[in-house]
This record gives sequence, structure tokens and C-alpha cells, in this order.
Amino acid sequence: MQKQVEYQDAIKTKYPEQVVIAIAKDKAGRANPVTLGWTMIVSGSPPMMAIAVASRHYSIETIRHSKCFTIAFPSSEMADAALFFGSRSGRDTDKFAEFDCKTEPAKAIDSALLTDAVANFECTLESETEAGDHIIFVGKVVSSHTNTEPKKRLYTVGPGHKLGSVS
Ligand SMILES: Cc1cc2nc3c(=O)[nH]c(=O)nc-3n(C[C@H](O)[C@H](O)[C@H](O)COP(=O)(O)O)c2cc1C
Repeated sequence: MQKQVEYQDAIKTKYPEQVVIAIAKDKAGRANPVTLGWTMIVSGSPPMMAIAVASRHYSIETIRHSKCFTIAFPSSEMADAALFFGSRSGRDTDKFAEFDCKTEPAKAIDSALLTDAVANFECTLESETEAGDHIIFVGKVVSSHTNTEPKKRLYTVGPGHKLGSVS
């Protein structure tokens, strides 16, 4: 049986929600990481992935400028990094300079990979679509990487950006 409720109440049932960190370089060549929960795989062949970024975020400018971005799946040990990258804006903070997080150059695009992530996907920007207060960027995956060590993915497990792993 279903009971009609407000959207705000129904959407509280969404957890666990996956967490990704998207990275794109700005005009100054500075890589800007941003934490995102609203993301999905949208095509298998060719492989394509989408991210929804709020219109006010600096990441809108960095993705539009560089026309490519990395999508990293942070590991469960990367909660502090995800919270830092998800609470500061690249508009006034060099996030990689201020938070110690190992990176390496991407192989096929001008971006960075997160060394300790579970996986990294290098994407070229295919399209963008306005959806309410967010912009959906769709990227074609041109190079993929996985960690050589076994790692668990990071999720949002409850309201208020409560991050953790899922068994
Ligand atoms: C767990 C978590 C999930 C988030 N999910 C999203 C999301 O899906 N879309 C979004 O636009 N912002 C999301 N945010 C907020 C942005 O990461 C945050 O506003 C960030 O500071 C924007 O950075 P920027 O201005 O450098 O782009 C999330 C934050 C956290 C901590």
C-alpha cells in the first residue's frame, strides 16, 4: 500500500546514495574537485556518465571551460576529502592545495585522477541540459582506471551528508 506524502518526506528514503568527486580544470589550469551525489551511468556503448551540478557552483565554469572532466568513485577512507571538496568553492579556494589528497595526471584528457579512489573515469563533455536548478553534464568515458588495492566505495548513508560505506 502507498500513502501520498510531500516530496521532501518521500525523498528521505533515498539512502544510501552514491558519492562521486568530479574534477575539471579552470581557465588558470587549476584542477577543481567537487563532491556530487546526483550522478548516473547513461549509456553502455559508448560508455557515458552524467552529473548534475547546481547552477551557482564554480564547477559549471570549469567543466564548460575545459570540456572534459574526471568522475572519481571515492573510497570509504576519503570521507573527509569528500566533505571538504563538497563544502568549499573553487571560486575562492584551491581545494587540492588546501586539502592533502593524492592526485595524478589523467591519461586521455587534461584533468586529474584521485590516486586513492576506487575508480576514475575520464570523460569528454558530450552535452549539457538545464534541469531546474541544476545543469546535467553528460560525458563520454574515454579512459577508465581502478585501484590496484581492494577498496570500498563511499556513500551518503543518511541526511546531513552522513558519509560511510555500505556492506
Ligand atoms: C555528499 C555531498 C553530495 C553533494 N552532491 C551534490 C550534487 O549532486 N550536486 C551539486 O551541485 N552539489 C552537490 N554537493 C555540494 C557541492 O559539492 C558543494 O556545493 C561544492 O562546494 C561546490 O564546489 P564548486 O563551487 O567548487 O563547484 C554535494 C556535497 C556533498 C558533501
